[in-house]
Amino acid sequence: MKALILVGGFGTRLRPLTLSVPKPLVDFANKPMILHQIEALKAVGVTEVVLAINYQPEVMLNFLKEFEAKLGITITCSQETEPLGTAGPLALARDKLIDESGEPFFVLNSDVISEYPFKEIIEFHKAHGGEASIMVTKVDEPSKYGVVVMEESTGQVDKFVEKPKLFVGNKINAGIYLLNPSVLDRIELRPTSIEKEVFPKIAAEKKLYAMVLPGFWMDIGQPRDYITGLRLYLDSLRKKASTKLATGSHIVGNVLVHETAKIGEGCLIGPDVAIGPGCVVESGVRLSRCTVMRGVRIKKHACISSSIIGWHSTVGQWARVENMTILGEDVHVCDEIYSNGGVVLPHKEIKSSILKPEIVM
Ligand code: GDD
Ligand code: MG
Repeated sequence: MKALILVGGFGTRLRPLTLSVPKPLVDFANKPMILHQIEALKAVGVTEVVLAINYQPEVMLNFLKEFEAKLGITITCSQETEPLGTAGPLALARDKLIDESGEPFFVLNSDVISEYPFKEIIEFHKAHGGEASIMVTKVDEPSKYGVVVMEESTGQVDKFVEKPKLFVGNKINAGIYLLNPSVLDRIELRPTSIEKEVFPKIAAEKKLYAMVLPGFWMDIGQPRDYITGLRLYLDSLRKKASTKLATGSHIVGNVLVHETAKIGEGCLIGPDVAIGPGCVVESGVRLSRCTVMRGVRIKKHACISSSIIGWHSTVGQWARVENMTILGEDVHVCDEIYSNGGVVLPHKEIKSSILKPEIVM
């Protein structure tokens, strides 16, 4: 089977992290977002993944070459010369997606995390006999997503409305699809949206089916959702593979610590923390609800909560970093500094406190 991952877009909502790497390569739970998806696709027998991309394909491919060999999966790029939206890239990659087998293929938004129950969606797709299957999930605030109105018993979709202004329902498109090759005949090679131009039409012909996604789901393309997503991911890891989580008297709740990270004496870490490769956490540090990416140093008695610390940054002694502070790559927070929601661009040194949420350039 084949799969296409939509990896275009500039990831502006996840800046400053996406100033260093394309969004799909931003680490999530100690692994680039996209690797979570590729590994799960591989597990259900996908042999070729096409990355639909509209900028920096070299960065992406160089990075993924290593994993191609490791995972035994083919990864290719389909590059747009202008952004083609969420459907146009499928038309562009048409030849890569269809072969004699006539099998359906997966399409994924690159910024969604879940338990990726691909096996279940394959079974669901076979059983309903329609043209396309999409996964849906319930959220409290549906207006920022694509909303799906479906028949509960069969899953047949009555209506698909992208980012509705008025409430139509609380089941939303999770950005995970399984499509028959015939869907490609509905898409022209031009900038076009699968959510606005393709799904509503298939739904009108009663050939679009939705399955409620089992387990957790999150679009982690924004800092607050990224942090929530880590909590959900770690909860799920606790249920499925709890041995991957850290243990000890210094750990509270679910914490992921890379085997190459060093943790000092007298720290208190958790809940909902991921500490990446090569990190050094000195003694007496307090961490909760945060992500600490590869190569970060956190000095003695620093306290970090609800924040993301980008690659190779340092947080000084007694510093306090909280409330959705996002440090880009290689940021240095001096000793005793307080950051309340600072969003700091890469390669900065922070010498005075950031008292209210703001962007530091
Ligand atoms: N190749 C390519 N070209 N990819 C693109 C382009 C483009 O021009 N524009 C967006 N993408 C990719 C993004 O990188 C992302 O993986 C996916 O398409 C969806 O785009 P987002 O910008 O993240 O859309 P969204 O989050 O506002 O809404 C989408 O996702 C929701 C779930 O998270 C829609 O699919 C909604 O219906 C859905 O509910
Ligand atoms: Mg998104």
